[in-house]
Amino acid sequence: MASYLIRHSPRLSGEVEVSTAKNAVLPILAAGLLSEDPLIIRQVPRITDVDTLLGILRDCGAQVQRNGVDVSVCAMQPQSPNHEENMRRLRASILILGPILARTGSACVGLPGGCAIGQRPIDLHLRGLQALGAQVHAVGGLRQLSGRLTGQRVYLDLPSVGATENLMMAATLAQGVTTIENAAKEPEIVDLANCLNLMGAKISGAGTGTICVCGVERLHGAVYHPIPDRVEAGTLLCAAAVTEGSVLVRGACAEHLRSLLFKLQETGVGIRETPGGIRLSGSAVAPFEVRTLAYPGFPTDMQAPMTVVALKCRGRSMLSETVFENRFMHVTELLHLGARIRVENNVALVDGGVPLEGGMVKSTDLRAGAALMLAGLMAEGETILQDPSGHIERGYQDLPEKLRSLGADVEKIEDRV
Ligand code: EPZ
Repeated sequence: MASYLIRHSPRLSGEVEVSTAKNAVLPILAAGLLSEDPLIIRQVPRITDVDTLLGILRDCGAQVQRNGVDVSVCAMQPQSPNHEENMRRLRASILILGPILARTGSACVGLPGGCAIGQRPIDLHLRGLQALGAQVHAVGGLRQLSGRLTGQRVYLDLPSVGATENLMMAATLAQGVTTIENAAKEPEIVDLANCLNLMGAKISGAGTGTICVCGVERLHGAVYHPIPDRVEAGTLLCAAAVTEGSVLVRGACAEHLRSLLFKLQETGVGIRETPGGIRLSGSAVAPFEVRTLAYPGFPTDMQAPMTVVALKCRGRSMLSETVFENRFMHVTELLHLGARIRVENNVALVDGGVPLEGGMVKSTDLRAGAALMLAGLMAEGETILQDPSGHIERGYQDLPEKLRSLGADVEKIEDRV
């Protein structure tokens, strides 16, 4: 079982390089199923979600190779995965559905898993593919889809990131023009569209609420370098804020982090954007109110780290979670460190400025795990963070090492507790 020992840390200082974005790399890996030529993806992070998806792609008949930091995916004849249980290990596993269906005219997949932060249905993915002409059958935990896809107007009830990605990929090989209305606008959507266009797709409007995809006969191979990880960058900036540090996150893209940077500035820290990255200096002192929303709103993935920033600010902060129904699990753990937080429906009321005491906490999901690590840096004494499901390594490459390089006292201790 992975556990981390975290001691109260001095002000973090120095420079740290952000990795390539997990949530950009995962759909782009799935896009490898759309072409019989190799898709080479640069700087793929060493995280277990990537390993899991690479295993699923192999199970789908793709040739997958890791050459140092690059990964190549080549799918001569993609097929549905044989091992349904692997799908449950990862939400992004559902992103194989659109590509396999579009390439072969049929696909059979298990229901995806991932962080237990809400129900996370796949109805929008299925309804969208149905609108493009797929027949959908539920067979136990499996979903079987078949049919040749034809371009249509599709309206998403919610701007779902995953559904937008699945539909965009499927539509690249559909006959005719597909328009996705109320599409997600996240930077990862734009990145996927850029990669698909490099592979020969005809996509316009990515990053707006209306995406237009003109179907083509086939996609070819490409070499693509995805965007930096905005959530990792944000987490490292929050680590600097809670330790009153001064940290430059190299490679971070401020344009992707606007809502977070404004909110951090409201707390009193200094933010400086440089060509090389984003520097945060100073301490978070002023309480704030924030509401998670689809991009360009405040990202739900930053809500847990920002809860820890709120613990640093003197007075009451309010964090409303509107994207997922069950994303306050870190709060119960933070109470073990002496935090004063009350959750009412989808709002966390945080009374900050009270010192935390080290203790034993458990990682309940990926971003909760990272947030608890930050809380450990703030807390007096020692904190043991248990991560039995390995959440942190699913999504952060070398997070303890990166924090250590800035002066934090964090180490991974296996089998010690
Ligand atoms: C992506 O998840 C990210 N995952 C999540 O990151 C992120 O929190 C989320 O987008 C929101 O930004 C990946 O990119 C791999 P959604 P996704 O579909 O695509 C509901 C992390 O920590 N919904 O935009 O699953 C859903 O229940 C993770 O890195 C439906 O109702 O998110 C949620 O309430 C966690 N039906 C809302 O939409 C559907 O068919 C947004 O979900 C699909 C979604």
